[in-house]
Order: sequence, then structure tokens, then C-alpha cells
Amino acid sequence: MEGARPPVITIDGPSASGKGAVSEFLSRKIGFNYLDSGLLYRLFGLEVLSQGISLSVLADDWDESKRLVNCLEARIDGRKKVNQNVSSSAISIVGSVDARTEQAGAFASKIAKMPTVREALLDLQRSFRVNPGLIADGRDMGTVVFPDALLKIFLTASPSRRAERRHKQLKDKGIDVSVAKLERELEDRDYHDSTRGLSPLKFLEDSMIIDSTDLDVEQVSFLIEKKLGEMLED
Ligand code: CDP
Repeated sequence: MEGARPPVITIDGPSASGKGAVSEFLSRKIGFNYLDSGLLYRLFGLEVLSQGISLSVLADDWDESKRLVNCLEARIDGRKKVNQNVSSSAISIVGSVDARTEQAGAFASKIAKMPTVREALLDLQRSFRVNPGLIADGRDMGTVVFPDALLKIFLTASPSRRAERRHKQLKDKGIDVSVAKLERELEDRDYHDSTRGLSPLKFLEDSMIIDSTDLDVEQVSFLIEKKLGEMLED
């Protein structure tokens, strides 16, 4: 008889809403694995750039996307064996380009529209679902990648608070960009991510919405843990 599949908590939401910080904090606290799916899209994009692959080839050639995912898998495999977590120190895989910059995010958003790319990344994302469970953050974790998730969260925050958070994150890495410019760029990316035909960012009826504008990481994590506790009691 097939055993129960490891439980998944999905955390979807717009750019810089705190998904990554909350997922990392909570995954450590409850001992779950963590999938940062956005990082996979960013890394995939950097791989496309470093190998000089044209967007038209990428859009049409299913095998090319699969080949790129194999390249990515080879690079993150060692880390996966440690804790299934592609940590931020794994991100500078192609020289000096940092996967966390807004340019890398915007390029990720551009290629994330392509069915070839999304399809090629599906199995890799699902391979993170191992015991004792997984916290997966992204745009389509609850809708497409793990539709049978135990708990689905939609995490959001005001655009200005999200721009402030991203500003601080980049500043800590020595990258200085104006908050106003970041806010425009994030809103632009959210627009593309929410209006694309394939796997758009969208709120699900069965999701719990959390607005983190005035909540810190621990407060958001507390709400999620509380909800989990209530579900397990039922
Ligand atoms: O950190 P931030 O929320 O700004 O972005 P991210 O989660 O690193 O994702 C970068 C880009 O990858 C997003 O803007 C999406 O276009 C794309 N992405 C996606 O399409 N599906 C996912 N599950 C995760 C990210």
C-alpha cells in the first residue's frame, strides 16, 4: 500500500512580500524542508544568459529547457543532499551576477511565462517533497505544483513595505537601489506575474490570506503555526 505523501505548506504571493523569510524561519522551526521556487526560476534565467541561449529557442524547444534543468540539478544536488534547501549561498553560480538583483528577478519573470520552462522545472520542484514535509514558496505552489497541499497561504503586503524590505535585503548585500525605483520594478513584475496566461499568481478560495504589512516574520509564522494547530485538532 502506498504511504501518505509528505505534507506541504504552500506560501504564494507577490514579490518581496516576505515569503522567503517566513518560509525559512518556519521550516527551521518545524523541521520541514524548504523550496524557494523563485530562486530556481532566477537560477534558470542566469543559466540561459550565461549559455547565451536565445529566447525564441527557449520558447520553442522543450528539450533545451530540460537540458538546462539538468545543468541546474547538477549544481544544486550536493546541497539538496544536505537539507533539500537551495540556500542563498548557492545562487552566484554564474560569475558575478547575483540572483537576488531585480534584473535577475525581471529576467526570471520573462522566462517564467514560457510553457517549456515551467514544464521543465515541475519535477525538480516536486522532488523537494520529502519527509517530514515541505514548505514551498512561489507564485503557483498551491495552484499548480502542489494542489493537494495541506495548507495554502497567500502572503501579501503593501507595495511600499515590500519595496522597503527588498531595499534592505539588497543593501545588506552591498547593492544600493532607490526605494522608489524598486517599488516601480516590483509592481511591474507583479503585473506580469498576475496577468500571464500560464500559472499566474492568483488568490485561491481555499487559501489563508495574511497581510504582512505590519507583521514581522515571527508574527506571520505564528499565525501559520496557529492555523496548522487548529487544522490538526479538527
Ligand atoms: O523574491 P521575489 O518574490 O521578488 O521573486 P522570486 O520568488 O524570487 O521569483 C522571481 C520570479 O520568478 C517571479 O517574478 C516569477 O515571475 C517567477 N516565479 C514563477 O513564475 N513561479 C514561481 N513558482 C516562482 C517564481
